[in-house]
Order: sequence, then C-alpha cells, then structure tokens
Amino acid sequence: MKIKPKKLLRQTTPAMQKITPSISREDILCAETPAPPNALIVFGASGDLVRRKLLISLFQLFRRQLLGEQFYLLGCGRKDFSDEQFRQMTQQVIRQNSADASAKELKDFTDKLYYVSGDYGDASFYANIKNKLPLLDKKHKVDGCHIFYLAVPPFLYTTIVEQLGTSGLSCPAKTQFRLVVEKPFGSDLKSAAELNDKIHRCFDESQTYRIDHYLGKETVQNILIFRLANAIFEPVWNRNYIDNVQITAAETIGIEHRADYYDKTGALRDMFQNHILQMLALVAMEPPMSFEADSIRDEKAKLLRSIRPFKLDEPDKSVVRGQYTAGKINGTKVAGYREETGINPQSKTETFVAVKLFIDNQRWKDVPFYIRTGKRLAAKNTEIAVTFKKVPYSTFRSAGLDDIPTNVLLLHIQPQEGISLSFQAKRPGSKICIGTLNMNFNYKDTFGIEMPEAYQRLLLDCMAGDQTLFTRENSVEISWRLLTPVLEAWQNSDISPYEYAAGSDSYPQADSLIKPDGRNWRKLSEI
Ligand code: BG6
Repeated sequence: MKIKPKKLLRQTTPAMQKITPSISREDILCAETPAPPNALIVFGASGDLVRRKLLISLFQLFRRQLLGEQFYLLGCGRKDFSDEQFRQMTQQVIRQNSADASAKELKDFTDKLYYVSGDYGDASFYANIKNKLPLLDKKHKVDGCHIFYLAVPPFLYTTIVEQLGTSGLSCPAKTQFRLVVEKPFGSDLKSAAELNDKIHRCFDESQTYRIDHYLGKETVQNILIFRLANAIFEPVWNRNYIDNVQITAAETIGIEHRADYYDKTGALRDMFQNHILQMLALVAMEPPMSFEADSIRDEKAKLLRSIRPFKLDEPDKSVVRGQYTAGKINGTKVAGYREETGINPQSKTETFVAVKLFIDNQRWKDVPFYIRTGKRLAAKNTEIAVTFKKVPYSTFRSAGLDDIPTNVLLLHIQPQEGISLSFQAKRPGSKICIGTLNMNFNYKDTFGIEMPEAYQRLLLDCMAGDQTLFTRENSVEISWRLLTPVLEAWQNSDISPYEYAAGSDSYPQADSLIKPDGRNWRKLSEI
C-alpha cells in the first residue's frame, strides 16, 4: 500500500516501451526497504504452511537482501528435530522450489535457522524457548523484536497465546512483541470474539497481525491505487455510472489433503468471510483520508458494516450453495466431494457459494454485487468485473444499434494479473460499424517480472510493524456478524447444497441470483 522510494533498475521491457515509450523501469518499480532486525518464532515449524509458503518466501526475501544480517528464525513444533535436521528440511524444500539456489545461499540462509521441540500445552516448552531467545538475540544482534507466528491448526491458537502470556513471552505494552495469526479467525461471530478476547489478554491489537494472504497480492493492493489515483475512474466509481459488480474466485483444485479442515469449514468460511469480503471492501470502500493502516482499516470496516443483511427467508435470491460431484478437470476425471478421502459421505459442506448483495450507503444504493467462489470449477480465475451503465440514448439507432454494449472494467487478480477495459469503437467498413474492443494491461508483460508471492510482502510488512495489509479485529467481527445467520440457517436446514459436476463452467442454481435481474454470470472460460 505504500509507495516506496524509487530504485534504479536498468531495463525497460518491450511491452513497457510499446505502451509508454518514454517510461523507464526506474519510473515504475519501487524499491523495498529491508526489514529491521527481528526474530521470527514460528509455531508449527515442520508443518505444511511453513514448508509450502513461509520458508520459501523468507528465502526469497533473503535473496533479495531484504532480510538483513540481524535476523533469525526459531522453529517450534512437536516434531523432534535438531537445528541441523530443520536446516536440512528447509534446504530440501527450497531446492524443490528454487532450483537455482546455490549451496552458499542455502547455507547462509539456513545458518539463521534454529529449532526447539515440545508440546504446545506444556509450560516447559515455552520456558525452553524463553531461555533460547536472549542467546540468539545476542548472536544475531537482534534487539528484542520477537514475532510469534502461529502456523498451527486454529484449535491450538488460544493454548499457545495463553502459554506465551503465562511464560512472560508476550508483553501487551511493547510493540516489539508481535503475534501473527493465520485465518480462519474463528468459525462464527462468537468464536471470533472469543479468540480476539483471548489474544488481547496477551497482545493488544497494535501487536496482532491477522494474515489474509489475498491482501498481500500485488493485484489486490492495486485495486485502491487504480480507483483513487486515476482521475478518469475516481469520479465514476458509484451508483450513477456503475450498473453492477461481479467478483469471482474460481479454483480448479479440490480440497487436496485438507479434508478434515475443509469439511468443518466450507467455502463461506474458507474464502468468503476473509479473501472475498476483503476484496469487496477494497472495491467499494470510501477513499481513506490517508494511506495509513488505520485510515484504510476504518473505511473497510465502515463498508463491511454497510452490507445489507441477507434475506434468509428467500435463500435462492441472496445466497446459493453448491457441492461438487464427480467430473472432469482439464480432461482428467476427479472424484466428487463426498467421495474424497476423509470426507463424510453425507457431508453437507458447501464447496461453492454465490451471493447477491447490496451495500446500503449513498455511493452504492441499488447496485448489485454478484459474488461467487468455488472449488473444482472449469478454470482458476479470480477477477473483479465492474460493468458500467449503458449510454442513455443510442445515436446510432438508424443503423440498428438500439442496444449499445456496456463498458466493462476487469481487474484480473490471478492467474492473469492485469486490467482490461472494453469499449466501443468504429470498426473499419461501413460508416456506422461499431464493435467492442479491449484495452489490456498485463503486469508480467509490462514489468517483465513474476509477481512476488504474497507472503513476502506480508512478512516484510509485519517485520516493519506496518499493519495496513492485515485484518483488524473489528473487520473480522463485522464479517462474521453478516455471515453467521447464513451459517446457522444452513446448519438448521435439512436441505443439502445443490450439486454441480466438477469442471463446470458455472453453476445453474446460482443463476437464480442474477438472471431475474436480466444479467448473467460471466463465463469462467472467458475470464
Ligand atoms: C486459502 C484457502 O485461504 O486460499 C484455500 O484456505 C484456497 O482453500 C486458497 O485454495 C486460494 O488461494 P489462492 O492464492 O490460490 O487463490
């Protein structure tokens, strides 16, 4: 969210020159500020998240010289590893991901890694950690900035936080102590409030960093910049010009190895409560007074609070849920949700959810937001489509053009990363020959680099003490307040989710949300 000082970079890519011949990379790319001295104490250090995301992102930061000399990581977990075994595991994980990592780089990075094993409920585990920290601080010249990262299953959060409190490893008054919590932040309003309450007995809000990895994606961060830094879009971003907004987060993957977690969670909790509502907030919030963490988070909370509660007496008009059955993804047969290993064959957990919602404020009155997310769909695609209103009158009626197509602005979040805008233009040929054209901007072609993994951004910001991209307590509770009645209604209903075949391009039952309004879901394959 911050515009950083400019850094000198040598080349411009051909695509950049094509778009803006006079622009050079130093005008576009921004330098990062290296992390200040800090220690990362990671619980769940031998687990999946650490192996898939954290170690790899930290290594990339190290390579980009953003970690600095004064850094170390203390892995904590149940597995009985020595420092050396933890280092070897890390090297293996990194080699699989970055084949070009040199032996020296791997050694230099993993020399900063340590490990301590124990039981999360056992006070002696924390006493052990507490004894190690001053020694490691001294060795790596870290002046006491300790970041505790909970990369463990959520049921362990409160145990660990309480133990950190009783062992004197947290200190609510000192911003140098930080706590990083991964989603899910509770499973409904009550559990989220309880979790926040327990955290705040040991860490206050300014020390709490709730990670929503979508907020670390460059393209998600770009939503606000695009809206607020462009004089041609900022004035039209409201009900006077926008007809509707569609947000899609479609995945081809199923539940992978996470049956136990997913069957208790479902799409509404897994994707909607966090990633999707955060993207919605960025699209629809009022401009913050400044780009400071709390200005942004205040506006997000206001926006989330303005979402009209769902009408649960007419479910198919506001929220629809589905569950995938067997089908084909990219030509390969895949099992249905209830046949997946570890899933209850009678499970009613939703793997797809679509909603139509309204925001009750002046900017968005009566503008529908159609939102869907699901697993095992035809394509992986996350995008935000903003459809503008039609021109009020067609000057070209004599040529049979009564109905001029609308302008659609697409914010491509992933896997394509960019922006496109459709507009009408004269096509070569007869005098009044109009067609829809697309203007495209693609990050990769323009900047010539892969987008950094979201965790790099988030880890760096947490180390720097910048909470802008982390979810604040009240946003979490407001979003659960909106969704808890939906979850309760589902729980009390005998009706199972509608079925859709894996690999579906869309999902017909979700049409009940949009078709009566004379609109359609965008086809995933066209996205
Ligand atoms: C996670 C969810 O938060 O986000 C997963 O728990 C989901 O179920 C993932 O697959 C999607 O993330 P991305 O970055 O691949 O869109």
